[in-house]
Amino acid sequence: MSAVHQRRELVSALADFYLGHRDLERLPMLGTVGRLLAEALEDDGVVATEPGGLPVTQLLEGVVADTGQPAIDRVLRAFTAAGPILHWVQTSEYAATLSRQFLDNYGYVRVIGPGGLVESDTASAGLGVWGAGLHYPRHEHPAEETYHLLHGSTSFQRGAGPWVDRAVGESVHHDPWEHHAQRFGDATCVLSWAWTGDVAVNARLVPEDA
Ligand SMILES: [Fe+2]
Repeated sequence: MSAVHQRRELVSALADFYLGHRDLERLPMLGTVGRLLAEALEDDGVVATEPGGLPVTQLLEGVVADTGQPAIDRVLRAFTAAGPILHWVQTSEYAATLSRQFLDNYGYVRVIGPGGLVESDTASAGLGVWGAGLHYPRHEHPAEETYHLLHGSTSFQRGAGPWVDRAVGESVHHDPWEHHAQRFGDATCVLSWAWTGDVAVNARLVPEDA
């Protein structure tokens, strides 16, 4: 498959995942992001980003598309196939402050948003990878957010609430500025995230005593 086709298949798989999601009515932002992705496919709005890997891309070898949920398996296949030609990034504050062990096992690809395969200043969405056992410290951002666990197992905390294990495909929604954190289980985790609203402002860590 050509690089052009790999990029388009990733955009298409993510569009169909959001537009076909059972929470589409409850979380209108999923439709907003999905439609922007679908429109980019129609309008030739998928661009080539500069390939650039990170140590975390090694973990993609352990990601198998066998969730039994066809829309998710398609995203995982497209993501792992395109992995080597994608532009991998880390949130700049994290790269400056988190441990080497965290940074060697974390990174993401922006499918839509500033600098993404689809350029947008109103939505940001993509796929992130976190290695087994990592703890993603409490963080916040002005954008509204919905996460979906696509591979592995992850526990999510909202605010000071309880840690809740989430099933593959289940939506985890955060309001703007809501504090949240994640703990990753015993396999490589792949999460999709979607942001709407103020997507130009990066996530930032929240002190544990805040
Ligand atoms: Fe977030």
